[in-house]
Amino acid sequence: MNTWSRADMILLLLSHTAVLLRVSAQHNLTPFGTATQISTYSGGIPQNAIKPPVSNAFSFDICTHTGIVSRTPAWWMFQFSFGTAYITDITIYYREQYAYRMDGFKLYVTNTSTIPPEGYLCYEDPDPGLPNIIQTIPCNQLGRYVIYYDTKEDSTYGPIIELCYVAINGCRKGFWGSNCEKMCSEYCIERHCYPGNGSCIYGCNTDNCLNDSCNKFTGICTDGCMERRTGDFCNKYNLAYDSSVLINPNSRYPGSLANDGSKISCSKTKGPTVTFQVDLKEESIVTGVYILFGEHNTKVGSHTLYASNTSNSWKTGTILFEDQFLPTRINVSAVFRYLTYVPPSQGTSAELEVCEIGILGCPPSHYGPVCNKLCPDNCNGPCDLETGNCIFGCLNGWIGNKCEQGINIKTLQFYARLFTYLLYNNFSICRWVLVI
Ligand SMILES: *[C@@H]1O[C@H](CO)[C@@H](O)[C@H](O)[C@H]1NC(C)=O
Ligand SMILES: *[C@@H]1O[C@H](CO)[C@@H](O)[C@H](O)[C@H]1NC(C)=O
Ligand SMILES: *[C@@H]1O[C@H](CO)[C@@H](O)[C@H](O)[C@H]1NC(C)=O
Ligand SMILES: *[C@@H]1O[C@H](CO)[C@@H](O)[C@H](O)[C@H]1NC(C)=O
Ligand SMILES: *[C@@H]1O[C@H](CO)[C@@H](O)[C@H](O)[C@H]1NC(C)=O
Ligand SMILES: *[C@@H]1O[C@H](CO)[C@@H](O)[C@H](O)[C@H]1NC(C)=O
Repeated sequence: MNTWSRADMILLLLSHTAVLLRVSAQHNLTPFGTATQISTYSGGIPQNAIKPPVSNAFSFDICTHTGIVSRTPAWWMFQFSFGTAYITDITIYYREQYAYRMDGFKLYVTNTSTIPPEGYLCYEDPDPGLPNIIQTIPCNQLGRYVIYYDTKEDSTYGPIIELCYVAINGCRKGFWGSNCEKMCSEYCIERHCYPGNGSCIYGCNTDNCLNDSCNKFTGICTDGCMERRTGDFCNKYNLAYDSSVLINPNSRYPGSLANDGSKISCSKTKGPTVTFQVDLKEESIVTGVYILFGEHNTKVGSHTLYASNTSNSWKTGTILFEDQFLPTRINVSAVFRYLTYVPPSQGTSAELEVCEIGILGCPPSHYGPVCNKLCPDNCNGPCDLETGNCIFGCLNGWIGNKCEQGINIKTLQFYARLFTYLLYNNFSICRWVLVI
């Protein structure tokens, strides 16, 4: 018989949801590791602290209890199975009515299991007064072990530890998010970031950023990219670097300011018919275009990007982009030499300011994200920029995706003779075998 009212049910559901939310907002890492302690009294094993119930209620099968006759310092230790974690905070439920045994405790995050602990002291219980038996202690440290350590003796026995529940919140190193499901950016130094927001902890990797400057939270290069690099993280090859850029009409902020790598210097112009044209100097396979516009642009109206193989045929070329907003990143798959951007005309005049242009692709016979791999020797023309496969076929005498298999002429001649023989002998294998 169901005696629960609807209101009771809703309340129950609500409180259940609240618990779930609280748990998922701080990821408890104790399921991923093992607990140990100096000694065990009457079944109070170290694992009891990392299992429910989440309460201060004591019994030997739900709380830990270290030995009672020892005069040496007592400890309880947790070790992560996956190595290192970034620990944001640690929550402790101590045995009810025994706060005096908790008095003077220390909580460490360490990289070794050495006792006395050597590492970061997250918290030391201050005197005077008894500690609170439920505590959440912020730590914000990277480490492999969490150690609860107590040197203070009670009046009858030596130091004793009785932990009823411990939650160690944080994420495994290199991960973040409410369930630690996201990987830290590879542009964070040591791929290390805060579990709460993914910001880099040791700063960002500046290898390809102009002036070594990157945003220490996002890793994005702030000033621009080093030679021949483009993209937020300057991790992609930029065909535009070796191109020549022309703006029309000419101005004292020439097109070359748009392909110098720097986001700070911008090419600028104004006039009745404005165009911005990049000459890649040869027909190239292009997979994407980044354009960083400055402040001074005619925004209202249709923005168009054309691809063509000659400088003045762009009007009849391929349209790569056409829309009512400024393009920023466009994925394309096209072969061309000239890229032409035409802003909307407002009345009789248009304004244009381009700070940086990135054109994704590779120079001839190269492939890979930064074009540092050589296309196979026997490709007939360029190779696929991702796989390096010879997409336009092989030179004579070669076959295979990467044209790696030579067709041996002797072998070919053998098969040709066999085929001719069989043809003239009504495809009788028996005769062939007899001949041999
Ligand atoms: C543990 O080692 C890491 C480097 O692997 C270091 O960043 C961290 O500060 C160390 N933690 C402690 C508590 O010493
Ligand atoms: C990310 O979190 C850390 C630690 O909580 C904080 O210091 C940092 O300012 C945060 N980053 C951003 C961009 O809010
Ligand atoms: C960045 O580098 C360029 C060229 O090396 C230099 O002219 C410019 O002053 C630098 N900018 C900053 C903010 O350091
Ligand atoms: C440029 O020429 C190549 C062949 O050399 C052709 O595949 C490509 O489609 C041409 N591009 C445009 C935009 O016409
Ligand atoms: C363009 O390609 C990149 C990488 O392949 C992808 O992450 C991005 O979502 C694509 N953008 C659009 C608008 O399709
Ligand atoms: C092949 O077959 C044809 C008829 O099918 C026959 O006339 C001829 O003699 C055969 N040739 C040999 C070499 O057996």
